[in-house]
Amino acid sequence: MKVLIVYDSRTGNTEKMAVKISEAIKDNGFEVILKKVDDASVDELPNVNALILGSPVYYGLPSGKIKQFIDESVKYHGKLTHLVGGAFCSAGGTHTGSESTILALLDSMLIHGMIIQGNPHGNHYGPAAIGSPDDKALEHCEKLAERVVNLVKKLYQ
Ligand SMILES: Cc1cc2nc3c(=O)[nH]c(=O)nc-3n(C[C@H](O)[C@H](O)[C@H](O)COP(=O)(O)O)c2cc1C
Repeated sequence: MKVLIVYDSRTGNTEKMAVKISEAIKDNGFEVILKKVDDASVDELPNVNALILGSPVYYGLPSGKIKQFIDESVKYHGKLTHLVGGAFCSAGGTHTGSESTILALLDSMLIHGMIIQGNPHGNHYGPAAIGSPDDKALEHCEKLAERVVNLVKKLYQ
């Protein structure tokens, strides 16, 4: 089972979350393709069981680079309905656009017909850090990894 993590990060905060999620997924026995958005290709999408997108919050939304990746994914529109999805972000503050950013990412996944699970125990839509992720944010990253792995297992193993 394989998970693709695509993230953008200018100053390293979102990248730390991506690395944590990647490590936690590997700890759960899955393969991971971890790609900064500049190096990512939508052509990897058909070959994975799950996609996790991460972005810094830019004006309450994902970065332009992540949006470009999403727009390029139209190449596989209608062919990704088997993918499990997840999303995370780093913002500059609290209540300053994290939820709108994560929901924008999840929105694109729903339009692809992907399968998404929320978290009833906080950070409901996905992990959101303020600047560099603290221990709590990293814990939410681990929880996202576990949710994605468990859902893929339930669906495909
Ligand atoms: C162009 C730009 C727009 C930003 N807009 C927001 C914003 O709307 N809300 C917010 O909380 N932080 C905003 N920030 C701050 C970043 O989200 C924050 O510094 C984040 O931790 C950067 O993540 P990175 O280190 O992965 O690049 C903005 C930063 C930039 C460069």
